[in-house]
Amino acid sequence: MIKSLEELKQIRDKYKDVLQNREAEENKIRILVGMATCGIAAGARDTINAIVEEVRNQNLDNAIVVQTGCMGFCYAEPTVEVRFPGQSPILYGKIDAEKGREIVRRHVKGGEVIREWVLRG
Ligand code: FES
Repeated sequence: MIKSLEELKQIRDKYKDVLQNREAEENKIRILVGMATCGIAAGARDTINAIVEEVRNQNLDNAIVVQTGCMGFCYAEPTVEVRFPGQSPILYGKIDAEKGREIVRRHVKGGEVIREWVLRG
């Protein structure tokens, strides 16, 4: 049981690294790849691998790739969502490995939304 403010402060200090990391992560661009069964069946594994590779190749330390579940767009899998901190997310559909790389280069790195692939956003 936490008894005092002093104790709270100790806990905060103890977990400082973790808390700061979380904060740092929240300031990053997130690239979400739908990895529900429908996504995987449509090739989402290739897509996510290509995206991770391209994030590395481009040295994008400010971006993280996250696997996510069902996004409700089975017909348009693989789906990829790009979230810049403080902006509304952009959801792309039918993203194969090649398109995934292009999203990393043009949108995540270059800030350009690729309108013709957008499902929502
Ligand atoms: S099961 Fe395919 S998007 Fe939900």
